[in-house]
Amino acid sequence: MKIVLLGAPGAGKGTQAFEISKKYGLPHISTGDIFRKNIKEKTPIGVVAKGYIDKGQLVPDEVTVEIVRQRLAEPDCEKGFLLDGFPRNTFQAQELDKIAGVDVAIDVAVPFERLLKRITGRRVCSVCGESFHVDNIGDEKKCRVCGGELIQRADDNEKTVNERIKVYSEQTAPLIEYYKNKKVLKTVDGDKPVAAVTESIFGVLDDLR
Ligand code: AP5
Repeated sequence: MKIVLLGAPGAGKGTQAFEISKKYGLPHISTGDIFRKNIKEKTPIGVVAKGYIDKGQLVPDEVTVEIVRQRLAEPDCEKGFLLDGFPRNTFQAQELDKIAGVDVAIDVAVPFERLLKRITGRRVCSVCGESFHVDNIGDEKKCRVCGGELIQRADDNEKTVNERIKVYSEQTAPLIEYYKNKKVLKTVDGDKPVAAVTESIFGVLDDLR
């Protein structure tokens, strides 16, 4: 299955991708995670990406599309993949159609007023990447999965989040219509507890198998 996860910043794409990847054995490809790894390792791509990510803007298409093209050419993607955070505009979606096509695009829909609280309260594991929220873990400093150090992402501050939401509205939200026109769009209500959202997504995917 070739799956695209759509949704605003903080909608829960990463959280749900973790569960989907585990159940269906698909590689989880998050362009945001790839950029953050490059930033951590101070690679040339990381240096370019940081300038955009810190401002809440999209990394240029030529960089992003090439990264995805190379990743999708790896053997573990032969039977399918789960894209999280890509495509993010119509150009990227058109390029993805040329590279691999899409069986289903799942939009995790969450009202905008919920997003800021979700993101500014997020803590991520610096080792395994698992995501938590302070509402559930309080001021814990260690990852409940692997014991790694929990950090706050540099772009998870209010100013950058507002810019990310604006960029989403202008450039990414039109993809809902794009995939609707291609008859592969499924929408799930993301404004429910994590497990309920996961159940809805599994329902959609099981129907397709
Ligand atoms: P990226 O890393 O993709 O960030 P994003 O799209 O802004 O999404 P987030 O990771 O913030 O949120 P999420 O939907 O994964 O939510 P999560 O599950 O963590 O991109 C970062 C940057 O990289 C971009 O701004 C851009 O600069 C660049 N970039 C990436 N891809 C690009 C591309 N294709 N082209 C160009 N540039 C690109 O959940 C959030 C929080 O909510 C967590 O604390 C979680 O515990 C909690 N939560 C999750 N689900 C629920 C629920 N159901 N109820 C309550 N809380 C929940």
